[in-house]
Amino acid sequence: MKFFVDTADVAAIAELNDLGMVDGVTTNPSLILKSGRDIIEVTREICGIVSGPVSAEVVSLKAEDMIAEGRKLAEIAQNIAVKVPLTWDGLKTCKVLTGEGFMVNVTLCFSTNQALLAAKAGATFISPFIGRLDDINLDGLELISDIRQVYDNYGFDTQILAASIRTANHVTQCALIGADVITAPPAVIKGLASHVLTEKGLDQFMQDWAKTGQKII
Ligand code: G3P
Repeated sequence: MKFFVDTADVAAIAELNDLGMVDGVTTNPSLILKSGRDIIEVTREICGIVSGPVSAEVVSLKAEDMIAEGRKLAEIAQNIAVKVPLTWDGLKTCKVLTGEGFMVNVTLCFSTNQALLAAKAGATFISPFIGRLDDINLDGLELISDIRQVYDNYGFDTQILAASIRTANHVTQCALIGADVITAPPAVIKGLASHVLTEKGLDQFMQDWAKTGQKII
């Protein structure tokens, strides 16, 4: 399973990338706002750090405007995936841009039928949002599982990019279901290293080591 990092924070991306934890990056208008940076500049900087797909989102609602924005974003670097919303105009944009050879990530997916449409429009990635479904008492992980089954039933090669990942359990379950990619904030990815028994065990080792009075260096 590939790890994408869901942020426009260049320092956080670089830190995780140095550890080999970053297969790609996803951004959206809210993350660009949070970064305080110009979208073109920050996206170019991210593409200079990460060789995998970097999603940059269009912000228009009509297909012809989305297509123009997508082409402009794709000029930033070869590894740009143009991110479009799962609307009818977004699907039209997906069809046109994938036809021109660009990677397209169809985002804001909340149903299996939406994922089916994105695959038929040739999407490179489909982004179902797990956490936001959980927020309204629906089952985000069940959606990932359903899309996996439907894509496998018909041999669609659109990659399932599980998004709105909030917890370590989301990551585990996505890996078990067979999501192709997860995108998560840096803190969630770093949090995967934590386990209460690791901390407890390390604390015991440190206490016992101190009692030996020894040093390695
Ligand atoms: O990739 C989509 C993600 O940014 C949404 O996450 O936590 O805002 O629902 P969240």
